[in-house]
Formats: sequence, C-alpha cells, structure tokens
Amino acid sequence: MQKKLTVLAFESSCDDTGVAVIRGNEVLSNVIANQEVHAKFGGVVPEMASRAHMQHVIPALDAAMTEADVSAADIDLVAYTQGPGLNGSLLVGATFAKTWAWQHQLPSIPVHHMHAHILAHFLAPGPPPELPFLCLTVSGGHTQIVRVNAPNDLQILGATRDDAAGEAFDKLAKLMGLPYPGGPLIDRLAAVGNGDAFRFARPKVEGLDMSFSGLKTSVLQFLTRQMKANPTFLAEQQADVAASVQSAILGVLMEKLTLAVEQTGIREVAIAGGVSANKGLRAALAARAETDGWTTHIPPMSHCTDNAAMIAMAGLLTFESGSQGTLDIAPDPRLPF
Ligand code: KG4
Ligand code: ZN
Repeated sequence: MQKKLTVLAFESSCDDTGVAVIRGNEVLSNVIANQEVHAKFGGVVPEMASRAHMQHVIPALDAAMTEADVSAADIDLVAYTQGPGLNGSLLVGATFAKTWAWQHQLPSIPVHHMHAHILAHFLAPGPPPELPFLCLTVSGGHTQIVRVNAPNDLQILGATRDDAAGEAFDKLAKLMGLPYPGGPLIDRLAAVGNGDAFRFARPKVEGLDMSFSGLKTSVLQFLTRQMKANPTFLAEQQADVAASVQSAILGVLMEKLTLAVEQTGIREVAIAGGVSANKGLRAALAARAETDGWTTHIPPMSHCTDNAAMIAMAGLLTFESGSQGTLDIAPDPRLPF
C-alpha cells in the first residue's frame, strides 16, 4: 500500500491564523487562532491582521504539531495559501511556510484559497462527492457556483456581480446595529424569527450570476422608514428582520443553485465557504435531497469557515497530481481562480 503523506499547512488569507496537520485525508489537527482586534472597528484592519498573524503563527504551529502528535521529521510536504486575500496577511503565512519547508528540505505547495474551500470536501469523514459535482462557494469575499470535474479542473458557472453573500450578511447586520462579523449573528437571530415577515427586493440577474448590492439598499430604505415611524422598531422586530434578510439572501443562492442543477443535469451538490456554516442554508440544501433527489454534501462546521485543514487537502491533491511550488512564488492578493 502507498504511504499516506503527512501535510503541514498554513492559512492566513484574512484575519484568522490557521495551522493544520493531515495524514492522507484524515485531519490530525486543525488549529485556528482568531483575531479579536477587529470587532471594535466593524471590519478587518489589514495592518493589524498581518501583525497578529506574526504573533499567532508560531504558537499555532506548536499547538498543531502537539495535537497531531507529530514532529518535523514526520512531515512530507508543506502547503500554504497563496491568495486571494489581504496582501500583508498572505505574506506572513506564505513566507513562514516556505521558510519552514526550506529549513526542513520539503516541497512547498501554494494553494488557491477558494479551491481549498471546495476541496475540503475530500477531507474525512466524507464521503467525498462523486465527480463531477456542483459546489456553491460562499464566503466573505466570493460567491460562485463551481462545476468540479476533478480536483484540479474547476469551472466557474456563475458568480456574484457585486457583493459576496458573506459580505451581504455582514453589511446587512451592520445596518441592524450588529457587530462584525454579522453573518453568524443573523443566523442565530433568524432561527427564532419569521422569514416571511418582511419582503425585500431581490435583484434579478440573468443566468447563473447573482447580485446582492440592491438588497442592501432595499433593507436600508425599509429600516429608515420603519424607524422614523417607530424608533423602537428594530429592537422589537430584530429576529423577524434578521430572518427576512437571511431568507432574501438564501432565496437568491438556492434559486441559482437550482438553475445550475437544471442546466447541467448534475445532482451531486455541495456547499463550501464561511456562509456554508449558515443553518438556514444547510437546512435548505438538505431539504433538496428529500424533494429533488439531490445528493448533498454539507461540510462539518470546522471545515466551513477559514481553516488550514482545507489548505492541506488542496496541497496534497495538487502534489499528487504532480505539481509543486518553488520558493520564489509570491503571494497574490488577487490570485485568479
Ligand atoms: O470563508 P470565510 O471564513 O472567510 C473568507 O474566505 O471570506 O467566510 C467568512 C464569511 C463572513 O462574511 C461571515 O459573516 C460568514 O462567512 N459567515 C456566516 C456564518 N458563519 C460565517 N454567514 C452566515 N451565517 C453563518 N452562520
Ligand atoms: Zn475563506
């Protein structure tokens, strides 16, 4: 039997420092150091993020190696996020990863962050989706419907033309006076609210592309009107507003995903990225397995938001396809898909 490779991976595209160790598709450790510094600014401050990565990366590495019960001699290759993301954040993770690989004479594999969100589906416990499959990839920076023909053959069928779904969640939460990141808070409030209480305009876009910026205007106008009539409106109706906002965003996502299934005839359907942690989206997708015969793949929570296990899996699949990086590869904040 072929030896299962052990991969050490670093994720630093935004504000969380992730370090993970996997062996084959099994996660041995998946450490995340969250940065608390941004909440009071209502968003990620890039300069603070890169500084915090520098503080967190060594303790996170030590924790990941200890938890996985491995030493440097057990590692076969190193993977890291090359982009897209914040330049300074990527620079810290990529430089650290390549230096560690060079020091231990190991191959280093640059990974595309959004590929990794999708390829997280190949991690245990699985089972992995059958090829080809469709993946709705929804994060703070991206919203795409991707056709996955093979781990290294990914094709974007549709994408947002403006805000990403996670960005829409966060901006709408901000309008509701909630702290950053607002996505998980809307999710929590929506669970006890009525999603049909208020109806917001959903921008119509042809084909598989999407748009979320109009929704923000619709919610802003609605809230301004209501608060003028009743200054305690938001406090009284917070859960129903959250549920209605969530229902508008999920309505767009599920409508486009359904169209993609119809157009391609592929019923193997996955979700990935931070917004795939959303309970409403997970329930909506699971329901399609019952009503429309889709085979659905909903990742465990720890593989939804940014993490380094997904970077390790993508790095391993890249290495197994015969490709690896060189030490002069630079991070790229706008790395093309
Ligand atoms: O993939 P991710 O961790 O980072 C990026 O690559 O952007 O995604 C972060 C995004 C944020 O916009 C956050 O608000 C959103 O995912 N998010 C959620 C939930 N958990 C995270 N949005 C809605 N419901 C959630 N439960
Ligand atoms: Zn992400």
